[in-house]
Amino acid sequence: MPDRQNGARRNKTENDITAEVLARFSGTPDPRLRDIMLSLISHLHAFVKDVKLTEAEWFQAIEILTEAGKMCSDKRQEFILFSDTLGVSMVVDLLDHRKPDGATESTVFGPFHRLGAPDMPMGGNIAHRDRTGTPALVRGRVLDLDGKPVANALLDVWQTQSNGLYDAQDANPNELHMRGKFRSDAEGRYLIRTVLPVNYPIPSDGPVGRMLKATGRHPWRPAHIHFVVSAEGYEPVTTHIFDRTDEYLQSDAVFAVKDSLICDFAKHEKPDAEASRLGIAGPFYTAEFDFHLTPATTAQTTVMDAQQRLAALGARG
Ligand SMILES: [Fe+2]
Repeated sequence: MPDRQNGARRNKTENDITAEVLARFSGTPDPRLRDIMLSLISHLHAFVKDVKLTEAEWFQAIEILTEAGKMCSDKRQEFILFSDTLGVSMVVDLLDHRKPDGATESTVFGPFHRLGAPDMPMGGNIAHRDRTGTPALVRGRVLDLDGKPVANALLDVWQTQSNGLYDAQDANPNELHMRGKFRSDAEGRYLIRTVLPVNYPIPSDGPVGRMLKATGRHPWRPAHIHFVVSAEGYEPVTTHIFDRTDEYLQSDAVFAVKDSLICDFAKHEKPDAEASRLGIAGPFYTAEFDFHLTPATTAQTTVMDAQQRLAALGARG
């Protein structure tokens, strides 16, 4: 607090201001909110002092955040892109989803999940409108940590089209495509028909793109398929599978690659019986990936829970 002498107020230093702001928030009743606010203020003030932020730079930051907010809609989330490209999403993921050995590792949720993906049968084709991609069958099992099958697990799957765009970024943004909800069978097996995933640049027509350009970074993500796998009695896992051959595995724009999530997409020149049954006529790829779920311990709020709450509030338009 500032010294007072004969009623005169000493000139405040920047550290006096920080101390006064911290004192003002120190009575926050909720202890977790108190911890977060005090730490946020300490670090934010320290950052501003460290870089000796000018008023022009401060105003530029306000403009960037304003523009990011204006770009957000039910189909675009610029703040998640900022979080992802700054590596914050992966730090939160690591802190909040520590997994026991053998459990499938999680990775970023990303900004492109949409509610309302259709229920699909075993072998259902999420790429039914994609005319240019090479067909791919992704199969595997959902298992517990002991390797026992988890039946009726829900696999919520999404991916870009072979043009590198998610449905919401393409010509008919209101039509769902490259999305589906699959269920594991009694042996825990699942089977998805899709197209070979491709690498793609994250949206770079907004403030995140300008940040990447100004800092000499590329916007590319290695080819992947997104999954949220959930089942009664298990912790849901939000993850991707990545193509081992991708050139951007070492430099993912959002830092989301984990070795255990890399898998092989094997090419076959001619369809086998199963591929033929699923309507594949020419060359195709197969990938196998087993998901290992952790038993539920506490009621966790997942990003999807949060997203559904927002949708229920009408906040997503
Ligand atoms: Fe993605």
